[in-house]
Amino acid sequence: MSANHKDIVHGQWSNRFAYILAATGAAVGLGNIWKFPYIMGENGGGAFVLVYLLCIAIIGIPVMIAEVYVGKKGRQSPMRAVAKVAKENNAHPLWQSFGAMGVLAGYLILSFYAVIAGWAFAYVFKAAGGSFVDASPEYLSDTFALFLTSPVQLICWTSVILLITVIVVAKGLQNGLEKATRFMMPGMLFLLLVIVVYSGFYGEFAHTVEFMFAPDFSKLTINSVLTALGHSFFTLSLASGVMLMYGAYLPEQTSIVKTSIWIAIADTLVALLAGLAIFPIVFANQLEPSAGPGLIFQTLPLAFGQMPAGRVIGTLFFVMLVFAAFTSAIALIESSVAWLVERRGYKRPQAAVLAGFGLWSLSLLTVFSFTGESWALVSFMGEGKTLFDLLDYLTANIMLPIGGLLIALFAGWKVHSNSFETELALAPVTYAVLRVLLKFVTPLIIILVFVNLIGLVKF
Ligand code: PHE
Ligand code: NA
Repeated sequence: MSANHKDIVHGQWSNRFAYILAATGAAVGLGNIWKFPYIMGENGGGAFVLVYLLCIAIIGIPVMIAEVYVGKKGRQSPMRAVAKVAKENNAHPLWQSFGAMGVLAGYLILSFYAVIAGWAFAYVFKAAGGSFVDASPEYLSDTFALFLTSPVQLICWTSVILLITVIVVAKGLQNGLEKATRFMMPGMLFLLLVIVVYSGFYGEFAHTVEFMFAPDFSKLTINSVLTALGHSFFTLSLASGVMLMYGAYLPEQTSIVKTSIWIAIADTLVALLAGLAIFPIVFANQLEPSAGPGLIFQTLPLAFGQMPAGRVIGTLFFVMLVFAAFTSAIALIESSVAWLVERRGYKRPQAAVLAGFGLWSLSLLTVFSFTGESWALVSFMGEGKTLFDLLDYLTANIMLPIGGLLIALFAGWKVHSNSFETELALAPVTYAVLRVLLKFVTPLIIILVFVNLIGLVKF
């Protein structure tokens, strides 16, 4: 244990590798495999992908570095960590609000994340039971639509996901979080590669590569840019309390910069592989790239239904997807739990149960959005929009970018250079670049996107 372990309320990762696994586990999840493909499809492909990649490189990585740094200096749950670092740097206590907003965003995200993870769980059994074998695209989209008409099923699967999440988190840092992450990442990557190879042989691979990597800027609206920006935060688990929290558990000698870059690369790789796995099937079967949240549940089963050993591969794939979702769900609940422990004096298990119960109630908003309950529609967002769409937009497109903006401003302008520079141990030029990115580039881009969105200025 390090010298300042007295400050550490909740424990510490056993080593650098454990941290990388957990943080990569938090990053890689439904965002990569479920969300990225369908929002890429909805936003026209290549140009969206390009903006997304740029956001990861020039905004996501610097913000991650800043967040982990603040978490590590603060060594507590997000709000208190930021408050502590603000105080040390003579910054206004109000800065801690971005810690609070992150925790809230994480909580709201988990309320719908758990529902989607529940779909993946249900699909494990559909795959294992052989219901995809030689199935037609129509059959599979009917299966999915039928699944969504049953609130009872959705609520049960969501409950299972939340229950397991609560149990893992209640067991504490090293027993729960680390163990859950250790074996899932390599398995996930391997199965994705298998599907990409299959899609390469039997799907429209060339068309997919063009769709994903030949940018057509006429398809890019300001809302697509905001979605790409928001997703770069979502996919790296930024501005949601998670990296502040995981940074708080960081062992003393771990390089924040190297680990952040590695996590971003791994996350991006999984997202791109997911795109390369799914779109060849979409194009080969004349499916709609813009099918929305159901996309992977209607396309991947087609491949599993036809490939050799597809039943086994399909089952394993959805098992892995559930695991990937769990390692993110755990991250999403962790900061609320830590907050309840610190602030309200609950024991970890009590805090986990309490947080889980609140999430379960909130998750009903998403469940009834998909089952088509009319009260779950929000007319002001446009026709057919639901409370799920609202939660998704509010968190990923509004709260996370604003949180990211505040973190960048805080780290760029308020944190004293010397301690930041020493901690990061970068070459002076690299450090200067990072500082410029945090001070000017990130805030400017985020503000411009919002200003443009509101329509004050058009470019
Ligand atoms: N990064 C996760 C994913 O891509 C989602 C997530 C967001 C996890 C925010 C934690 C915090 O699936
Ligand atoms: Na991700």
